[in-house]
Amino acid sequence: MIGEVPNVYLYASNNPSEATLAKRRSNAVTVTHLTPPLAASGLYKGLSELKDSLARYRSLAPDAHERADLSALISMQAEAVDLDGSNPDHLWLTLLETETALIPDGLHILGRPMGDAERAEHLRVMAETDPETRARVEQLLQEDHELPALMRALSARYIAPVAGGDLIRSPDVLPTGRNIHAFDPFRMPTAFAMQDGAKQAQRLLDAAGDLPRSVAIVLWGSDNIKSDGGPIAQAMALMGATPRFDGYGRLCGADLVPLAELGRPRIDVVMTLSGIFRDLLPLQTRMLAEAAYKAATADEPCAENFIRAHALDYAQRMGCDIEDAALRVFSNAEGAYGSNVNALVDSGAWGEEDELADAYEARKSFAYGRDGKAKKNASLLQAALGDVDLAYQNLESVELGVTTVDHYFDTLGGISRAVKRAKGSDAPVFIGDQTRGAGIVRSLQDQVALETRSRSLNPKWFEGMLKHGHEGVRQIEAQVTNTLGWSATTGQVEPWVYQRLSETFVLDEEMRRRLSALNPQASVRMANRLLEAFERNYWQPDDETLAALQASADELEDRLEGLDVAAE
Ligand code: BEZ
Ligand code: MG
Repeated sequence: MIGEVPNVYLYASNNPSEATLAKRRSNAVTVTHLTPPLAASGLYKGLSELKDSLARYRSLAPDAHERADLSALISMQAEAVDLDGSNPDHLWLTLLETETALIPDGLHILGRPMGDAERAEHLRVMAETDPETRARVEQLLQEDHELPALMRALSARYIAPVAGGDLIRSPDVLPTGRNIHAFDPFRMPTAFAMQDGAKQAQRLLDAAGDLPRSVAIVLWGSDNIKSDGGPIAQAMALMGATPRFDGYGRLCGADLVPLAELGRPRIDVVMTLSGIFRDLLPLQTRMLAEAAYKAATADEPCAENFIRAHALDYAQRMGCDIEDAALRVFSNAEGAYGSNVNALVDSGAWGEEDELADAYEARKSFAYGRDGKAKKNASLLQAALGDVDLAYQNLESVELGVTTVDHYFDTLGGISRAVKRAKGSDAPVFIGDQTRGAGIVRSLQDQVALETRSRSLNPKWFEGMLKHGHEGVRQIEAQVTNTLGWSATTGQVEPWVYQRLSETFVLDEEMRRRLSALNPQASVRMANRLLEAFERNYWQPDDETLAALQASADELEDRLEGLDVAAE
């Protein structure tokens, strides 16, 4: 439809995957813009008081008589901020992790360079230590390259290319105002990604405790593109496989690592691809399918090859051949994206949680084979999900947490719910965070708690958002909806999260009025979402809290209706 009309498309510099689709679909010339400035979360209110007490406690000699009193105080202070005070060392680490977590400080405004304070904080938290690069970043962050580039593009002039990446790890994304491109798809996963992927896979296995027989891993385009295939390499490492390159160095398949070299059994991996991954990385899709096939058909004992053990079982139970029983790469049908679990949660129009598993399976049960072609195979997906011991996904960027956007619970949440239904019991859910420094694996429950403390409930985060008025309130409301999405799909959100969100944004009269004045629709949605969480039994407020929440929701709705009437 766009024909010859030039398509100038502003794009965040950290989003090469979706930008690539924009270029393919509609010949877009992308013009990059910055992502929001990042800042360390810091601590606030009860959390900083608790840290003071802990610091004092840690400085005391083991036999100091002050310890007993202080320990009682710490327990009380910890309880007041919904933390377990019984292990001071563990508590200390939790506080440090919260304090140093990176959070977005408000939003970026196109063409407006970072303020002095934000720039200083960015330079403080960035990993890069080379003085020349730091000086370059400092200079470029003071200049506007975005509006001039937009004007250049609109004048049909040339926009220089740039690889997409996260500013904090890839300072080369500066200056912004350039046309995003991705990577060399023939060389991915790179040797570095394979090395790093093996380490991260080991971290996951360490976090899991008992060796899992099967792991469900969610693969997106963006996390892979920005790491030259890191998450793909994790899946390969779990299966005990390596990429094969032809004489020109182009990816052409997968080979198995001998069991003796692997040093542990091959772990079965159910790989679910975002539609974007499927579109952008067809060679890698085939490579992953080939790795699973080769493992399933390897002449190895089943006790040391769980892929083969499962494939033989599925072939027998389902009466299919080993080629079909070895299919482990699932995604949407060609041309389709997402699992619709996010749309259902957003609408609130769903009954039992199993309906979310239905939606997920209906959308994601297309198996991609060694030939790269998709065939719907819901029964195989269900069989494979029934054997999954844990579900896992990597974080894509510092900017977007699992409660910032609805795509994480759509993909990882969706599959977790489908696993639960297939098994008849919960499987643990893990998040791999490699957005900063060496990687770390967290349980989903810990990840949601960390984001709730460092972002949603943190005045530094929400005041940063509220400077952006209407859109800022929408972002806060999205955190609440996405949190409910995790309860609905995994049940891994602790009840205190809803209690504190209610207290901070709805029950506090001044805050309620502020939100309602800035964005009356979102303020109503937020209050209703918290009530929905109660109705779905994700938290159990006492009668007084519930009545206050209900009254606040009514008040917010009345105000919204008043505005509508006034507008008419
Ligand atoms: C991806 O890069 O695969 C992706 C991006 C946004 C949402 C979901 C997936
Ligand atoms: Mg979009």
